[in-house]
Amino acid sequence: MRDKITVPDIIDMKKSGKKITMLTAYDSLLASILDEAGVHILLVGDSLGNVVLGYENPIPVTIEDVTHHVQAVSRGTKNALVVGDMPFGTYFTVEDALKNAGKLIQAGAEAVKLEGGVAIEDQIRALTEMGIPAMGHVGLTPQSIHQMGGYKVQGRTPETAKKILNDAKVVEQAGAFAVVLEGMPSDLASKITDELKIPTIGIGAGPHCDGQVLVTHDTLGFYEKTPKFVKKYASLRELILSAVKTYKKEVEEGRFPTEEYSY
Ligand code: KIV
Repeated sequence: MRDKITVPDIIDMKKSGKKITMLTAYDSLLASILDEAGVHILLVGDSLGNVVLGYENPIPVTIEDVTHHVQAVSRGTKNALVVGDMPFGTYFTVEDALKNAGKLIQAGAEAVKLEGGVAIEDQIRALTEMGIPAMGHVGLTPQSIHQMGGYKVQGRTPETAKKILNDAKVVEQAGAFAVVLEGMPSDLASKITDELKIPTIGIGAGPHCDGQVLVTHDTLGFYEKTPKFVKKYASLRELILSAVKTYKKEVEEGRFPTEEYSY
């Protein structure tokens, strides 16, 4: 039996040079498989909006949505650290951040993730002081797509790179235990990783981060098209399509069920 992974374990992994693996999870069954595979962190991301709820972006996701899926994921997880994503608009103020993070922790999350840097310094500090571990998220922050003009790589100019580095440092100083670096040049992610004591977890940020995260449904091949930074480790869309078409054909042709499948 493996040990339960805690927030201090994740912090120690950077010190010992062990790479951190994180994947998204939204339901109990898939969470149990990712957990059995030994993934260190399961993120109940607000990507839930796109992947599970059929929205175009994460903006419509509510705290009730994430709470519901955190409950499911935590029921399916034995070892991984479960992190709940704070949805858009649920941490504009310190009071909101504390109230809503509390809901995710009560639902079974062991930490929460928030997008932003300088703008949410007080929220991260307040959460940490109240004993709620906070994971930061800087660079391409999907909850700000309207401001960014879409899902665009951030930090390509010296000025924007400097701003993202500063955001990451502020997130660390405020007490975050780790930070997601999303959608930025590899050399910027490498510099942030070198300058921070807390682990960096990259997505579309190159190979030099302390860990990596992907949206599970991207990497398992549920979609025909995926972003450039996604490696598909399986082709489940094709596998499921083929299986379901075979089932349909066999039922229609009276070849399933045979007596073998009857009571
Ligand atoms: O919501 C999410 O899945 C995320 C990851 C992509 C980091 O924030």
